[in-house]
Order: sequence, then C-alpha cells, then structure tokens
Amino acid sequence: MARTQVAIIGAGPAGLMLGHLLRADGIDCIILERAAPDYVLGRIRAGVLEKVTTDIMARLGLDERLAKEGLPHDGFNLADGERLIRIDIAGLTGKQVMVYGQTEITRDLMDAAPERGLEIIYNAEDVTLHDVASDAPYITYVKDGVNQRVDARFICGCDGFHGPARQAIPASAGKSFELVYPFGWLGILADVPPCNHELIYANHDRGFALASMRSPTRSRYYIDVPLTEKVEAWSDDRLWAELSVRLGPDAAAHITRGPSIEKSIAPLRSFVFEPMHYGSLFLAGDAAHIVPPTGAKGLNLAASDVSYLSEALIGYFKKNDRDGVAGYSQKALARVWKSERFSWSLTKLMHRFPSDGDFERRVQIAELDYIAASTAAQKVIAENYVGLPL
Ligand code: APR
Ligand code: PHB
Repeated sequence: MARTQVAIIGAGPAGLMLGHLLRADGIDCIILERAAPDYVLGRIRAGVLEKVTTDIMARLGLDERLAKEGLPHDGFNLADGERLIRIDIAGLTGKQVMVYGQTEITRDLMDAAPERGLEIIYNAEDVTLHDVASDAPYITYVKDGVNQRVDARFICGCDGFHGPARQAIPASAGKSFELVYPFGWLGILADVPPCNHELIYANHDRGFALASMRSPTRSRYYIDVPLTEKVEAWSDDRLWAELSVRLGPDAAAHITRGPSIEKSIAPLRSFVFEPMHYGSLFLAGDAAHIVPPTGAKGLNLAASDVSYLSEALIGYFKKNDRDGVAGYSQKALARVWKSERFSWSLTKLMHRFPSDGDFERRVQIAELDYIAASTAAQKVIAENYVGLPL
C-alpha cells in the first residue's frame, strides 16, 4: 500500500501538468495511467497554445524546446468562398498564440518526470476510486497482475472523457450538459510545407476546412465529414483535392501534396460536467469538459484547470487554506463556459449543419460580413482565440 498527498488519474496533458506543478512546490503525488507511454504519445491533438499553457511550461522550466521549435502566430484567417478575413490577434490584443503540437507538450512533460521526482505508473489496470466523499479516499488498481492500493488526501481525475473519475460522482451530485454535432473532422498530417504562414478556417459550400501546421515542414489539415463516413473512403488524393476546393483558390495554389503520416476522423462534441469537485475528488481537463476543436481550446482549458487546481492544493497543504479547494470548481467553470461558448460559436459560424436552411446560411453570411467590417467584432474573436485571462 502506498500513501501520497495527491493521487492523479491519467497522464495526458492535464495530469502531467498538474503533477509537475505540485512537485515544483514539494507536494507528493503519484500519477496512475492506464496506457503505455507510447500509446499516450501516439495521440495526435490540436496545435495552438494560449499564453496560459506556454506560461505553465515556462514556470516549470520545461519550455526550452517550445521556445525553439514553437511558431508564434500574430493572426489567423476566416475564409468564406473567395474572401479571406484576417483576424489580427497581435494587433487587436497585443498577444500571440504559439503553434506547437500538443503531443509535443505531452512528450516534454513526460520526459521531464523522472528528473523532477514525478512518479508515473503506466499500464495501471482497473483503476477504481473509493471513499471519495470522505477525507481519506483511496484508489485500487492492478499492475502486472498484482492488486495495488494508493491512499491519498485528494484524488484528481485527469482521466479524459471516458475515464472512471467522473463516474465516481453520484448522479444526484452533478449535472451534465452536452451537445453532439452532426459531423466529424477528418484530419491529415503530412511532411509538406504549410500552404499559408497562418491558419485558415474555411466555410465553403462543400463544407468546413482548416489549414494548420506543426512546423515549417509539417502540415495539418482537416475537413468536416458526415459521422457515417469511413476514413478508408478518403485516399490521400481525394482528401487533397477536397481541401483544395474548400480552402479556396489562393490557398489551393500553395498546397503541397504529400503522403499522409496520420489520417483519422474525430467526432465533435460540447460537454460540461458540473461541479468539478465532489468530496475529496477534483476533475480537470477532458474528464470534466469537451470542446469541439474549432478554436483549439481543449488543452488550453486543461491548462487553466490545473493552474487553478494546483494553486488550491498548494494552498491547502502549505497554508492550511481550505477556501481555495472549496472554490476550485466555480472558478474553473467560469472560464470553461466562456471557452465552451467560443468553441461552439466558431463551430456554428464555420460549418454547414445538415439541419440548416437558407435562413441559417444568410445569418452566417451576415455574421461574416459583420466580422469583416467591424474591428470590434474582430477584437471579440481575437480576445477569445488568444485566451481569456485566468
Ligand atoms: N485509468 C487510468 N488512466 C486512464 C483511465 C483509467 N481508467 N482512463 C483514461 N485514462 C488516461 C488516458 O489513457 C489518457 O492518457 O487518462 C488520460 C487522459 O488524457 P486526455 O484524454 O489527453 O485528457 P486531458 O489530459 O484532460 O487532455 C486535455 O489536451 O490534447 C488535448 O485535446 C486534448 O482536450 C484534450 C486536452
Ligand atoms: C491543429 O493544428 O491540429 C488545429 C489547429 C487549430 C484548431 C484545431 C486543430 O482549431
């Protein structure tokens, strides 16, 4: 039987950032992860980091590669047929976003765990939470066929949307809010130069497309497809051709085609579970909320959660402050809902919903016209895209 101050479930970005932040203040913690490290690193995720995320990496002294390889972006574009509306995020907010694969953030955090004394137990099976309503919760799990137990003062569920932590909260103690979108994003990663130096989100008659990147030599593109679509139906050639149409002639002229390194379809969902706290259990990241990828808020929200949560837990252990932990859920949810709103509204603006008729389409055009002509409207988008303050 092991004993620790904070037991963290899940070694995704949320669990790893939280673990490092706690260790940096001398708090004992253990991370239990169901998968093997290679599996965790195999997941391809979005690639836009807000300052809240880069600040955490800097505070941890783990931003060396991020500073070297990350691409600071001053703006991004909304395309509507032939027209391109540039959102000048630097000019409108004085801030930038950093384009850097979220998978690389996970790698940087994982690689630094041993030297920072952050214990991660991979391949932990059957992770089960016990007595979370009490002050003495514990977790049982199986490792290499042997039953194990960790006792902790607090448990943090950073175990993603399908993990066991949220399920450990009685139905009567929480409420879920959910919206499932009638399409998914088909993504392709390829070692070709990006078609544009900034991201382009396009709303075309044939549907949504996004041109993004990981580096000057690696591109990431997406289109939306019906949920029934199979990835096998999309050869690289077919996908490149579709991207060229949807992104518009200017971008198409600069697209370099190449073989896919990764190609997959991800469904889109908006989800929030309230509260993010029950007894001695806290939820952070995808365990508590999901945003559609339009706007790339997923990891950045996990970063703001763990920033609030680490501060609350450090206050509890170092200063015997109970208000911080009691206030965590409310504080985190206030920011979560603003990101939910933004991700939902950008999704609505840039996609053709099967249920939409001519009226909804005219409203989209009117909104894009308004954004194109109004600095105030552009500032609202820029401020949200770059990340709201903590
Ligand atoms: N036991 C232990 N670990 C588990 C269990 C379980 N039963 N179930 C899930 N996990 C682990 C997963 O294997 C995964 O490594 O929890 C981790 C959750 O990681 P993510 O799904 O990446 O969730 P989170 O860390 O909240 O990610 C935040 O980062 O990259 C973005 O888009 C991503 O929005 C997401 C954000
Ligand atoms: C990505 O690069 O994968 C990406 C970028 C922006 C998004 C979503 C995904 O909004």
